[in-house]
Amino acid sequence: MSSAIGHSGGGRISIRNVTKIYDPDGAKVLAVDNCSLEIEAGEFCVLVGPSGCGKTTLLNALAGFHSITSGTIELDGRAVCTATHTEPPSAERIVVFQNGALFPWYTVLENITYGPEVQGRSRREAREQALDVLAELGLSPIADRYPGEISSGMKRRVEIARALINDPKVLLLDEPFRAMDALTKGVVQEFLLRALDKVRKSVLFITHDLEEALFLGDRVVIMTTRPAQVKKTILVDFPRPRTFKVRSSARYLELKAQVFDAVHEEARKAFDAGEREMA
Ligand SMILES: Nc1ncnc2c1ncn2[C@@H]1O[C@H](COP(=O)(O)OP(=O)(O)OP(=O)(O)O)[C@@H](O)[C@H]1O
Ligand SMILES: [Mg+2]
Repeated sequence: MSSAIGHSGGGRISIRNVTKIYDPDGAKVLAVDNCSLEIEAGEFCVLVGPSGCGKTTLLNALAGFHSITSGTIELDGRAVCTATHTEPPSAERIVVFQNGALFPWYTVLENITYGPEVQGRSRREAREQALDVLAELGLSPIADRYPGEISSGMKRRVEIARALINDPKVLLLDEPFRAMDALTKGVVQEFLLRALDKVRKSVLFITHDLEEALFLGDRVVIMTTRPAQVKKTILVDFPRPRTFKVRSSARYLELKAQVFDAVHEEARKAFDAGEREMA
């Protein structure tokens, strides 16, 4: 089925031997150490791991927000971040921010129209496409509302719609639903799944919520304590489209136990290392 959201295809990400050392005032912090990870085009990859292990550092390098110290990050075979070259952020790698970034002075429709207009569409074309996308995603009833007039869960949905209308190859989400209550979070997670059922995109999603990781991801990648490396990868083999029902299946509980064990082991190491530093 064709979608107003559009799907340019591609989106294969190769993170190869990436190391990142922050050097604030000479105090070197090794945040990521020789980390490698491949994400297939259209795959939903979730990163989990102890706080401070380097997840955001990786995502930000892929987004083009900062450089890396060595290694390569490629998008569809093109180097977008190396030690000597960082492609600036662009519409092909869109970040959905945790704290929201809707323009408060624009309506929902105007917020969605903004991206296509910046990309050169006429106002009329952009508006038509935005109306179609809103309809497709069930957001038409709030088209004329301002962000200040809708709930936080609704804002998240609009932000996802706004990201998708730009037809990115890759969606980057860093704990996007962190501050939400459990019920709203569930609804917004389902919204994201339904949107991606319409147009598959490569997704790199960071979360501390292991249930969220399993519900959303094709693969859950568990990182070690800092410096970040891949500790373990768990394939999440629930078919799509997924509904909330998978959360009560025996397989879900089995996978949950595996993810919890691996993350707990790393969290313990991080904690012990912190204790040692304190001593
Ligand atoms: N700009 C910076 N300058 C110096 N050190 C930094 C900088 N940004 C991050 N760090 C350090 O790099 C390490 C990795 O940070 P990062 O934010 O990538 O971790 P994270 O896995 O996203 O953590 P969290 O789960 O808490 O969000 C941490 O020790 C952090 O303090
Ligand atoms: Mg982070």
